[in-house]
Amino acid sequence: MSNINPHIIPIHQVKEVLNPIVEASGIPNESYTSQQYFAFERDRVIGKTWACIGFASDLIKNGYVIPVSFMDLPLLMMRNKDGLVQVFHNVCSHRGMQLVHEAGEVQGLIRCPYHSWSYDLDGNLKSTPHLGGIGKHTDDRFQCEKHGLKALRSHVWMDMVFVNLSGDAAPFAEHIAPLERRWQEFWGTDGMDLLRRVNMGGQLEIEVQSNWKLTVENYCEAYHLPWVHPSLNSYSKLEDHYNIMIEDRMAGQGSTAYNLSDTAGTHLPKFPSWPGDKLRHAEYVALFPNVLLGIQADHAFAMMIDPVHAEQTLEKLRLYYVGDEALKDEYAACRTATLESWRVVFTEDIGAVEGMQKGRHSPGFGGGVFSPEMDLPTHFFQKWLATQTKAGLEV
Ligand code: FES
Ligand SMILES: [Fe+2]
Repeated sequence: MSNINPHIIPIHQVKEVLNPIVEASGIPNESYTSQQYFAFERDRVIGKTWACIGFASDLIKNGYVIPVSFMDLPLLMMRNKDGLVQVFHNVCSHRGMQLVHEAGEVQGLIRCPYHSWSYDLDGNLKSTPHLGGIGKHTDDRFQCEKHGLKALRSHVWMDMVFVNLSGDAAPFAEHIAPLERRWQEFWGTDGMDLLRRVNMGGQLEIEVQSNWKLTVENYCEAYHLPWVHPSLNSYSKLEDHYNIMIEDRMAGQGSTAYNLSDTAGTHLPKFPSWPGDKLRHAEYVALFPNVLLGIQADHAFAMMIDPVHAEQTLEKLRLYYVGDEALKDEYAACRTATLESWRVVFTEDIGAVEGMQKGRHSPGFGGGVFSPEMDLPTHFFQKWLATQTKAGLEV
């Protein structure tokens, strides 16, 4: 846990975020620029809920492991021999060496490069060479069962691997239930089971020189659409959008006029349950803290927002199509057109979020203000952050 320095952020300014939107000011600059706040945020804000650290489909086969550095924490995603995905701290129990440095398939055990202690794919310590002296690999005074890798609470949902660092958040099923209920209207009860990713394709990674929160805030609103996204605005206009705010943990926007298929000539298979009178509906929801989701009648995407440090973020997008049919070669051009359309949109956003980051170094800006209508979802996200920050500082 980070040491809490109450001066890392002006608490009176944090409280002002919680005012009604017309009187509220935004989260203070320090929360976007300070590395000290970043550490606090990991343990007291992001760590208190469910954060995404990667994608289960990136673990391409059983026995595959991926080391992850999440906000400077060394973690390890593993798929065991039975296909189960688990997350552990990527640290050897012996002297604390980082255990795995590269993604890959594990043949046999995971061996620490320092003194060769080895673990199985469920994190159990299985081998301890010379532990009891030269040539003596066990010792009555040492119980291997007590020194396996430390597991984190984790859950896979819509291909994303979530962890709860603090260990005491509400169960994931409860956390996600409001969104599942909402999207049942579109993809029924089995929509997620139909999502397919093409052979590790359909992915996009974008690095932005900004704090992670600005990428989420920018995603929450459609307000910037006409000026930042001229191509998207040609087929899904500002006036076709509505705000979304769910419970205390999700916000975004929906469109009633998404029709890339018309402009790009795509004809991908659609979710069988998607209502016929809503084929042009699409919803874009930020699941706090660090997941951006999008669903359309013929594809879905998930973006993990990976906070690298206070002023740098990686956006990791994975695109999913509907059912095995959608993976056939005859749809290759449609899939490419879909991915390219999102590449354009997310690339257009880079200048906006990086520009806002620059503004947060200015003494002439103190958090900003909100449009009482267009910025409702952004304010909603900031209220969640302010509430968590306030609670974290008051511990
Ligand atoms: S630190 Fe890993 S075996 Fe010693
Ligand atoms: Fe945008």
